[in-house]
Amino acid sequence: MQPLGRRRLLVRAGEFAGLAALAGLPGCANAPPHPAPAVVPVAPAIVRGPIGSRFGTTPFTLGVASGDPLPGGVVLWTRLAPAPQHDGGMPPVPMPVDWEIAADEAMRTIVQRGSATALPEFGHAVHVEVGGLQPARWYWYRFTAGGVASAIGRTRTAPALDAPLEQLRFAFASCQHYGQGYFSPYHHMAGEPLDLVVFLGDYIYEVPSWAETVRPEPKTVPVTLVEYRNKYGLYKSDPDLQAAHALFPWIVTWDDHEVANDYADDQSQERDDPAWFLRRRAAAYQAYWEHMPLRQGARPSGPWLTLHRRLRFGDLAEFSVVDDRQYRSHQPCAPLERAGGNVEPDCAERRDPRRSMLGAAQERWLLDGLDRSTVRWNVIAQQLLMAQVKRRLNGAPAFWTDAWDGYPAARQRLLGFLAARRPANPVVIGGDIHSYWVTDLKPDFDDPRAPTVATEFVGTSITSHGISYARTRAVLADNPHIKFFDSRQRGYVRCEVTRQRWLTDLVAVESVTRRDAPAAVLASFVVESGRPGALPVAPTPGV
Ligand SMILES: [Fe+2]
Repeated sequence: MQPLGRRRLLVRAGEFAGLAALAGLPGCANAPPHPAPAVVPVAPAIVRGPIGSRFGTTPFTLGVASGDPLPGGVVLWTRLAPAPQHDGGMPPVPMPVDWEIAADEAMRTIVQRGSATALPEFGHAVHVEVGGLQPARWYWYRFTAGGVASAIGRTRTAPALDAPLEQLRFAFASCQHYGQGYFSPYHHMAGEPLDLVVFLGDYIYEVPSWAETVRPEPKTVPVTLVEYRNKYGLYKSDPDLQAAHALFPWIVTWDDHEVANDYADDQSQERDDPAWFLRRRAAAYQAYWEHMPLRQGARPSGPWLTLHRRLRFGDLAEFSVVDDRQYRSHQPCAPLERAGGNVEPDCAERRDPRRSMLGAAQERWLLDGLDRSTVRWNVIAQQLLMAQVKRRLNGAPAFWTDAWDGYPAARQRLLGFLAARRPANPVVIGGDIHSYWVTDLKPDFDDPRAPTVATEFVGTSITSHGISYARTRAVLADNPHIKFFDSRQRGYVRCEVTRQRWLTDLVAVESVTRRDAPAAVLASFVVESGRPGALPVAPTPGV
């Protein structure tokens, strides 16, 4: 296959050139088949010693994190990496890492402590699943290795499953290209009174920023495990990102760029040999698990990693976290020279009812969970814009095929289910498209009388370049279910959920060209319990 020129990619991708521009991938278009990522042999002995002095620096360069809170527990994460952009810089032997968790921020009242082993074959990452904690309270934690202590992190357990909960405050974010800006939205998020952070994909970008770079970054595209680790080493060096991890538990899912732009199951945008691509995917999935506060049970097996899961917060809210990449059908109507997403006129393949976004098993899991749910608000935490965006190409309707618009039958199954079974207050949150969207989700977007069955909030990017504002505005008249759109700011979304009302604030920073740029609420929306669809309200003052 011939490599595509970047100019041609921009033309093919039409309105979504901002996203497709990230897909230049000159290093990958004709990448040779690559051997499976090497596993470093494990030496039998555990080395004890002063790691800090041995390597001349702290091994905790990537900070600490916590995630997936349960009523009595939480996952604590760190990784020993004195040289984070050079495969960690650790000797290829297991290392003991002590951890302790306290009831106070000064770490005076230790409630639990233990020891974990950081294994070289998993990049010396540590995932500690702490149990036996009290529900709905803050804890502080730190790690120690070789006599060197990590920073102190703060985390919060979930309320008991059936506990009456009056309020949940969280922020969600996505799409943080390192080269395209400072992660200054996290600078503001760190000052928020949040219970948790939800991250909806594109934690890293496999492609560097080829132009308009704010921060220098290596102009490399990862393919191997070590190369993906080095990419996380760069991204997680950001102090504002580290602070946000250290302050709140995170619930994470991925989108495409944790592996490669617009991949779908075993198919890359360049139509690489699927066997080769799955080896690349295995390397990327392992690096993802190594760097996220996920459970041991999520540890990947080759190119497979089970990421979808549910997290419940008392009787108030449950998050169904889904994975839209690993099991999806290939994007429809794609030209031979380039798979992945394109703005395409409608085609029979797009409407094929056998096509799936989540894969049959995950789709069943999602619907079954929603059907059984007893909480007040059912949050579907996913990656993409779910609402239809009807565009025009030479006068004919056209759709961006990488998002749910490429999978209308799968979307209709989900939204039709919501209409028929009516789980309480479904709210879809998403990212991917580097712009804010507020939409009414309907089982049939072409029928103006169709009921609104769920509310959708999509957050803009942390830093990644926005899509064209003017060209996207121009299609909104054809899409009356879209209540709000703006692609001109970078930021995150803040949600305050109570029994009667869900308040969403779209938080925007003035700039990502500097760390300390001010932020403000761009717009605010309210959903009343029992009435799907967001209503605009005056922007919440202050951030
Ligand atoms: Fe993105």
